[in-house]
Amino acid sequence: MKCRKCGGKATVNMRQHKLALCSQHYLEWVPEQTERFIKKYEMFSKNEKILVAVSGGKDSLSLWDILCRLGYQADGLYIGLGIDGGIGYSTESHRLTQQFASERGLTLHIVDMERDYGHSIPALAQATHRGKGKPCAVCGLSKRHEMNRIARDMGYDVLATGHNLDDEAAVLFSNTLSWSDYLLRQEPVLPSSDGLARKVKPLCRLYEKEMTAYALLRGIKYIYEECPFAEGSTTIYYKELLNQLENQRPGAKLSFYLKFLDAKQNGLFSPKDQLLSNLHTCPGCGQPTSAPGLCSFCRMMEKVGSPEI
Ligand code: AMP
Ligand code: FES
Ligand code: ZN
Ligand code: ZN
Repeated sequence: MKCRKCGGKATVNMRQHKLALCSQHYLEWVPEQTERFIKKYEMFSKNEKILVAVSGGKDSLSLWDILCRLGYQADGLYIGLGIDGGIGYSTESHRLTQQFASERGLTLHIVDMERDYGHSIPALAQATHRGKGKPCAVCGLSKRHEMNRIARDMGYDVLATGHNLDDEAAVLFSNTLSWSDYLLRQEPVLPSSDGLARKVKPLCRLYEKEMTAYALLRGIKYIYEECPFAEGSTTIYYKELLNQLENQRPGAKLSFYLKFLDAKQNGLFSPKDQLLSNLHTCPGCGQPTSAPGLCSFCRMMEKVGSPEI
């Protein structure tokens, strides 16, 4: 296999794009693609302040690396969840994120659930009896709340996450199986709206294995392990199903996602007004919520008793 750009030996072969590249050209191609998506979906400009949510995994650390290489002003946010799982998951991901930031002189904000709210994610899940032993729902809720809080309170224009194509296609598959309202909100860019920061996913068109190749070739040190609670999750099952499809038909995953975005753009899912505009302000934290009264995060904190509320 030869690199399409220089004819040298190709290191990465992307059947889905009928494109093979050598390491050097691959490391240029990924940021070029990302820049193309940032512009296409009007995610943000060079004058705006970006907050990148970094988990210590390959996607979010690579995203931070790419945005810096492209000349964007991007600071990081790491949320300490207090998850051990026998592998020191949170300790290790925190260490790698901190190391990434300090080696490059980047600003990293840190939230620690236990320090700031008095409870780790597994403790919160147990105390609130949510999620049948799996803290993932409590974790997702807390991460969304904290990402939005820091972005808003620290004056960032936009919040960026490292979701890749495999993540987006799996969520889309899951939402399609249940024809969920979330289909209306699944977008590369969610504009800001009363109290909610603009949210963007610059890697949403890059395959998971493309991001792994980028992180490895770029020498980024990231945590290889997934969150120990992700094992056996339906998301992982859907990712496997979509990979089977992709193996038979390279490009199927990308086309599933892009054709969904096109269909929505063309009005296939035109929303009923009230689905999108029934938010009000939570009296506890001031963030927008669709729940009556306190938002789900504040209700959870009220239940477990937190020094913050
Ligand atoms: P996940 O929900 O674990 O697939 O992660 C999706 C995205 O959320 C990642 O790419 C990060 O941008 C962000 N994220 C996940 N976990 C954390 C964390 N502990 N701290 C900050 N950002 C996170
Ligand atoms: Fe949140 Fe696993 S439960 S990352
Ligand atoms: Zn080349
Ligand atoms: Zn609240």
